[in-house]
Amino acid sequence: MQNTRAPGAVLVMGAGAIGCYLGGCLQAADVPVRFVGRARVLAALRAQGLTLTDLDGQSRALSADMLSLHEQIPAGLAPSLVLLAVKSGATAEAAAALAAALPAGTPVLSMQNGLSNADVGRAAAPGLRWLAGMVPFNVAELAPGRFHRGTTGALAAQDDPALRALQADFERAGLPLQLHADLRAVQWGKLLLNLNNPVNALSGQALRAQLMQRGYRQCLAALQIEALQVLKRAGIAPAQVAALPPQRVPGLLRLPTPLFRLIAARMLRIDPQARSSMADDLARGRATEIDALCGEVVRLAESLGLQAPLNARMVALVTAWPQRPVALDVRAMKAALGL
Ligand SMILES: NC(=O)c1ccc[n+]([C@@H]2O[C@H](COP(=O)([O-])OP(=O)(O)OC[C@H]3O[C@@H](n4cnc5c(N)ncnc54)[C@H](OP(=O)(O)O)[C@@H]3O)[C@@H](O)[C@H]2O)c1
Repeated sequence: MQNTRAPGAVLVMGAGAIGCYLGGCLQAADVPVRFVGRARVLAALRAQGLTLTDLDGQSRALSADMLSLHEQIPAGLAPSLVLLAVKSGATAEAAAALAAALPAGTPVLSMQNGLSNADVGRAAAPGLRWLAGMVPFNVAELAPGRFHRGTTGALAAQDDPALRALQADFERAGLPLQLHADLRAVQWGKLLLNLNNPVNALSGQALRAQLMQRGYRQCLAALQIEALQVLKRAGIAPAQVAALPPQRVPGLLRLPTPLFRLIAARMLRIDPQARSSMADDLARGRATEIDALCGEVVRLAESLGLQAPLNARMVALVTAWPQRPVALDVRAMKAALGL
C-alpha cells in the first residue's frame, strides 16, 4: 500500500489522456500516484498496465501492479497535490467530489485547457486550494492503456509553494514545470493555439494533415486575428507558447504551404497520427470544450461591448455538428465562417 501522506504523493482526478500521461510519468519517476477514473479506462489499465510513448521515441511501461487505480476517491487520503484532468464540462462535479473526500487546503492544479477551470473549481469547492496550470503538448489514447505524447513543451502553472516543493519531481519525471506569478497571459497564449482544435475536429483529419492545408490554416488565422484584436482592446498581452510570438502566428499560417512547411518546421513536429481531443469528443458523441475556447473569446468581446463573430460561428458549428456529423472540407469551412 502506498503512503499517500508521504511528501510528493499525487492524486490524478480524471484518468484520461492527460491524467494517465502526467500521472504515469510521475509514477515512473517513483512519485506515488493515485489514479481516479472511469471503469472503462481503469479496466484497460488493470488488464495491460500503462504504456507511455512520445514523439522523441521514448517508451515507458508501467505494469498494472505498479498502478493505484480507483473509481472513487479513496477515504483518508491527504495528497500533496491533485492534478485535475477532466474535461471542462466535468470540473464542477469533480471539484465537489474532491471537496467531499480531501482535507481542506489540499492544492488542486487544473491541467485543463481554457481559462476558467480553476475558478469553476474554486466556486464549487472553496475549501480546496485552486491553482491554474497549462499543458502545452498533445496526448492521444492510441489504444486502451496506451497514451502517446505527439508534440513537445514544458508544463506551466501559477507559482505556489506546493508546486515549488514538487518541481524537482516533475523535472525527474520528464515534465519540466515552469512557474509564473500570473498564468493568465500563458493561458491566453495557449488558448490562441487551441483555436485550431475546432478547425481540426471539423476537418475530420489528423492534425498534421489538416495543418498542411492552407485553407484550414487561413480559417485558424482568422479566428486568431479576431481573438488578438479582442485581447488588445482588453489590454491583455498573450504569452508566447509556440515558437513565434502570438501576433506573428497568423501571418505564418497564411503563407503558401511550401513556405509554411519550411518556416514552421517546429510547429509541424507532430506525429502523423496526432488529433485534437475535440476530434475524439465529436467522434464519441461527448460534450466538447468549445465553450472554454472560442466561447471565452466571445465572452471577453461581449464584456467590452464588442463582438467576435468568427469565434461565435465556430461555437455554433461545433455545437450543431452532432445533428449533422459531416466533416467540413476547406471550402465548406470557409463558407460556414463567412471567409
Ligand atoms: N489530450 C490533450 O492532448 C490535451 C492537451 C492539453 C490539455 N488538455 C486538456 O486536459 C483536459 C483533459 O483532457 P483529456 O484529453 O485528457 O480528456 P479525457 O481523455 O476525456 O480524460 C478525462 C477523463 O476523466 C474522466 N472523468 C470525468 N469526470 C470524472 C470524475 N468525476 N471522476 C473520475 N473520472 C472522471 C472522463 O470520463 P468521461 O469521459 O466518462 O467523462 C475521462 O475518462 C481537458 O481540459 C483538455 O482540454 C488535453
